[in-house]
Amino acid sequence: MSAMLQHLFPEPDQVPEAHRIPAFIEQREYLIGGVLKKWGGTQNAVFSPVYIKTPDGPAPKAIGSTPLLTKMEALEALDAAVRAYDLGHGEWPLMSVSDRIAHVEDFLQRMREKRTDVVRLLMWEIGKTLKDSEKEFDRTCDYIGDTVRALKELDRNSAKLVEEQGFMAQIRRVPLGVALCMGPFNYPLNETFTTLIPALIMGNTVVFKPAKFGVLLIQPLLEAFRDSFPTGVVNIIYGRGRETVGALMETGKIDVFAFIGTNKGANDLKKLHPKPHRLKSILGLDAKNPGIVLPDADLDSAVAECVTGSLSFNGQRCTALKILFVHRSVADVFLEKFLAAIRQLKWGMPWEPGVSLTPLPEPGKTDYLSGLVSNARQHGARVMNENGGAVFHSFFYPAVLYPVNEKMAVFHEEQFGPVVPVAVFDDEADVIRYVVNSNFGQQVSIFGNDSAQVARLMDAFVNQVGRINLNTQSQRGPDSFPFNGRKDSAEGTLSVADALRVFSIRTVVATRASDGNKQIINRIIRNRESGFLSTDYIL
Ligand code: G3H
Repeated sequence: MSAMLQHLFPEPDQVPEAHRIPAFIEQREYLIGGVLKKWGGTQNAVFSPVYIKTPDGPAPKAIGSTPLLTKMEALEALDAAVRAYDLGHGEWPLMSVSDRIAHVEDFLQRMREKRTDVVRLLMWEIGKTLKDSEKEFDRTCDYIGDTVRALKELDRNSAKLVEEQGFMAQIRRVPLGVALCMGPFNYPLNETFTTLIPALIMGNTVVFKPAKFGVLLIQPLLEAFRDSFPTGVVNIIYGRGRETVGALMETGKIDVFAFIGTNKGANDLKKLHPKPHRLKSILGLDAKNPGIVLPDADLDSAVAECVTGSLSFNGQRCTALKILFVHRSVADVFLEKFLAAIRQLKWGMPWEPGVSLTPLPEPGKTDYLSGLVSNARQHGARVMNENGGAVFHSFFYPAVLYPVNEKMAVFHEEQFGPVVPVAVFDDEADVIRYVVNSNFGQQVSIFGNDSAQVARLMDAFVNQVGRINLNTQSQRGPDSFPFNGRKDSAEGTLSVADALRVFSIRTVVATRASDGNKQIINRIIRNRESGFLSTDYIL
């Protein structure tokens, strides 16, 4: 294996022309108050997880740099967002829903033109395969289109007046204020936009800080953001989280905190807000989703789901299956099939056809994963697959650890990488206890056919996690399904429709249904005197 790994990384001219990135991308622009400003200060170097062969061996490739803005620019961005919101009297929060939709549709059209650039940067910045990078881009565009459709429907349902107990009223959703949106490095486009776009379309103004990796890929979209939205509605900053985002939270001027990352990061930032009751948080956090293989499971299908569940994008998905519990009666056969399937996974560079295992973007990640493997070995687990845990610079070949137990760090910690811990169980009560006692509560996957047992487990988990998957891996999609979690895994629920709700609040205009009041209401509607009180129907 180690001899083969020597050929993992390409020479510069072995990168297919279509996937080469242009020379070093020195990105100095950031967006504040409708202006793309140029940063003259220190830059943050962006290294690709894709190393390049040199005569001295593979070397990390510096593909660009991004601005290391300071607290001052962050606060300037916040001021721009606060001004654009103008205590709810800004052009954007008062704009009609159909006009806001037109701005978002304009953005979507401009965004689609940048597909090639963004997809290429997804591959180079985070090592995501070409296929998955394209999928991330297209899924994000679909999400924006679906959001527009969902908002139209929401608005149509609010277009009518309601009469109740002698009152007549109109109930509509309005924005919350200034939103801070931060996404994760594993879905730097998709997950970020699943909060950013709903926040915007509902009339909030936004400060957006890209993830820690997958930062350059926002650059091709900066002009689209600038040109599609009114001044100050979207502000995009770069820099160290603590310095920039910490300063924003301390002002107390952030009304909505949309963050996908670790629960520790979210806690630290939330605590900085001086008026916590004024801060609405929408958080997607850590997870340790178990896959449970029951004695009568269809093993071929369970293996296929567990392989993609635990190893797609090298296990770097919050929804990944991060521990497998296999019933003792099928453990040997399951493992044999599972290891055979893993042997088939092709490793290589993100653009290679059919590849699924690629280098990891986080510096130090391979050391962390190797540490988990040696800790598990010390406590009695074996690495079951040939070459499991082999490391070559930023590349880590998947390690299947078996049997794992509660003494091992990997039993509890979210590895967020290509290490697959497999535990054996005799009694389903042990698996239930694992889920109940876990600090996380995102999803579980149950693989089995005995309806009575499946139902028993489902009922044991319904108050523990946000989604129970039967004979399928854990996942977020379809994006119309609610996506949430319990305990340290999430706060709030996202989906196309739910996101519109979490970034807004209902306001009611109500009156006693007397003849005089009805006449006033009628006049307001007929003469189109109010933006809120209106029966206009978006087609
Ligand atoms: O990283 C967490 C993502 O929301 C997972 O989404 O299940 O579609 O990969 P996915």
